[in-house]
Amino acid sequence: MSSPTPSPHRPATTTPPASPAGSAVDPSTEPSVEPRDDGVDDDQDALEEAGYREVPDADGGRAGRGWWDANAEEYLAEHGDFLGAADLCWCPEGLREADAHLLGDVVGARVLEIGAGAAQCSRWLAGQGAHAVATDVSGGMLAAGRRLDTAAGTSTALVQADARALPFADASFDVAFTAYGAIPFVPDAARVHAEVARVLRPGGRWVFAVTHPVRWAFPDDPGEGGLTATRSYFDRRPYVEIGRSGKVLYAEYHRTLGDHVAELVGAGFVLDRLVEPTWPEGHERTWGGWGPVRGARLPGTAIFVTHLPPGERGQ
Ligand SMILES: C[S@@+](CC[C@H](N)C(=O)[O-])C[C@H]1O[C@@H](n2cnc3c(N)ncnc32)[C@H](O)[C@@H]1O
Repeated sequence: MSSPTPSPHRPATTTPPASPAGSAVDPSTEPSVEPRDDGVDDDQDALEEAGYREVPDADGGRAGRGWWDANAEEYLAEHGDFLGAADLCWCPEGLREADAHLLGDVVGARVLEIGAGAAQCSRWLAGQGAHAVATDVSGGMLAAGRRLDTAAGTSTALVQADARALPFADASFDVAFTAYGAIPFVPDAARVHAEVARVLRPGGRWVFAVTHPVRWAFPDDPGEGGLTATRSYFDRRPYVEIGRSGKVLYAEYHRTLGDHVAELVGAGFVLDRLVEPTWPEGHERTWGGWGPVRGARLPGTAIFVTHLPPGERGQ
């Protein structure tokens, strides 16, 4: 038995949702938070192995839902205060949309969040006057979002959906975004971009934050140990955790900057900006491998700001 190593990239602590339909969902309808129905065991295997290796795409993509269902509470206990109940925080560096304005003017805009987790971002956007719909593949994360709504007296539109099969009509949103949701956890992110391109109107904006690809060359250590590159930046093997039964419990996928750009262009998007947030002076909080030591020297997050050309649909 190999000894499990800490997960290098996930912004959480330990060990991943949706009912694709194809029809428009009215954001004013009751949130749908369905229990998992994909035949995946509810019991998580004990962790047997962790490392960088190829696994079947179907296994890696499916793991996202089970892991986030199983770890929703723990994740939010650790990071919920930092994220806030209603705030749009893009990354462990703490960049907030209220300061960054990456989504543009959202008043009255139809905004889709994918991989929304407990929907803190959409809850904040609704407070700014947007018509926000929060989607996530994990019923556990959305249920936590519903509890935040109950506590706050808000009513965020929550829809359980895999970002690769969005249950919305073509051209039904003005803006789409995600802060670290979905894309890192699927082997086929091009499908996410294609779905976002389909549900956005021509000219619509798509903004997503992911771990900065450069980080994949370094150990996921927030201290000095995380400053020396030990892996090839070009090694695309995913980071996976495998249970005793052989089941993939967790999978996270690396794409180089060039890979991200190629996938975006392939889906018909135009890249406007690549934002690399700096680590703020005095920000001492670590989040997994993110923290002030590495933040002083290495980028931790890449935020892609893109749009569909006016008058054209995504491809
Ligand atoms: C790191 S969290 C980001 C959520 C939120 N922005 C936050 O910071 O807490 C990643 C989210 O992506 C979701 N996710 C993973 N795979 C997904 C998929 N295929 N489709 C939609 N959401 C997915 C997970 O369920 C989880 O809620």
